[in-house]
Amino acid sequence: MPDLFSPFTLKGVTLRNRIAMSPMTMYRAEDGRMGDYHVMLLGSRAAGGFGLVFPEQIAITPDGRTGTSCAGIWDDAQIEGLARVTAIIRDMGAVPAIQLGHTGRKGSETKPWEGKLQLPPDHPEGWQVRAPSAIPYGGRYTYPVQELTVAEIHDLHRAYAEAARRALAAGFEWLEMHFAHGYLGASFFSPIANRRTDRYGGSVENRLRFHREALDAVRAAWPERLPLTMRLGSDDFNEQGVRFDDAVWAVGELKAHGLDLADLSLGMNTDVVSDLPFNEAGFMVERAARVRREVGIPVGVSWNLGIPAVADRVIREELVDLVFLGRPALANPHWPVWAARELAQDDPFALLPEDWAWWLRNRPGAEGSQGWPAVVGQRTEQDSRGMDGR
Ligand SMILES: Cc1cc2nc3c(=O)[nH]c(=O)nc-3n(C[C@H](O)[C@H](O)[C@H](O)COP(=O)(O)O)c2cc1C
Repeated sequence: MPDLFSPFTLKGVTLRNRIAMSPMTMYRAEDGRMGDYHVMLLGSRAAGGFGLVFPEQIAITPDGRTGTSCAGIWDDAQIEGLARVTAIIRDMGAVPAIQLGHTGRKGSETKPWEGKLQLPPDHPEGWQVRAPSAIPYGGRYTYPVQELTVAEIHDLHRAYAEAARRALAAGFEWLEMHFAHGYLGASFFSPIANRRTDRYGGSVENRLRFHREALDAVRAAWPERLPLTMRLGSDDFNEQGVRFDDAVWAVGELKAHGLDLADLSLGMNTDVVSDLPFNEAGFMVERAARVRREVGIPVGVSWNLGIPAVADRVIREELVDLVFLGRPALANPHWPVWAARELAQDDPFALLPEDWAWWLRNRPGAEGSQGWPAVVGQRTEQDSRGMDGR
């Protein structure tokens, strides 16, 4: 039976454990390029024991960014910064992963702490957003949307392939396509955002065409030996939107097109949602487990999995193969070491670089004085009940 600290092999890549740092947009890039900040952020998480480390979503075109300070991969000049990041991640014992994305109608935004508002196309920091249909998202995203032509869709697929080629040159060993969270791929799949009447809209088969073609284009540029995965907008939590049954079918289709693992996340194609248990521990786990069971493909999942006993249990019960941590990875660069102590693993410090671990093992100092939180050693009531109340 695997646990949170069991290695995980997918294609020709083996992770030292089941803990992934989930992609998180940081608004610190310049001209789409990564720098010292990203080396610090991602190198420290790799040194802290994460098995798989993602930088933020990396845009395949300039208009695929969230805002002008987001990272990109549309130009060879962006490879150097990304290569620094992959080098430090690998040097610290983790596998470097890239998430390729395009924000579609949710782009041209200010930073969250500056209001997270959409900027108009004529603003110096804004641009004309593009999407499957000319339907603004609404709420904070008010400006007109340009409907993509078929020629532009084909250009985007070529941009995905070019991005994959650059990702390989930068040293990434795992590639995830970001087709969730209301961004471009997610909006193609959702009837709320996609009202096209051509072969990219209408039936669920047509609404998945963008994904299939993008996946085929990337697979042609990305070696078979390296994992190719997708974060899928699998549920809009809205009767008119993507339903989870559609996602189960979609992952089966994508598996036939070479998908190696599915990361099941939220559709986020509308603010009008019902029954979205945002604050519940591991609320996407049972859904992902269904895909794993019915489609027969490895799955990963995020959302509220930062309690070590919960993260460990969803792996032990073989509900999911990988746990993605977002906010916990921001809060604690050493989350895996902390979790290993909480879960009474034999040698938690083995997750750290040996030049730190040796001192912590051999020079423990006064009881509790190393600065690690004390081991709680007790499961919370919620942990022992299980995800579905068992
Ligand atoms: C600051 C921040 C930035 C994020 N940026 C991205 C992103 O670039 N791509 C993505 O797929 N998800 C993004 N997310 C979502 C996380 O990857 C993750 O799925 C989500 O936070 C749920 O996991 P958690 O409960 O462990 O935080 C972001 C989340 C946060 C907190």
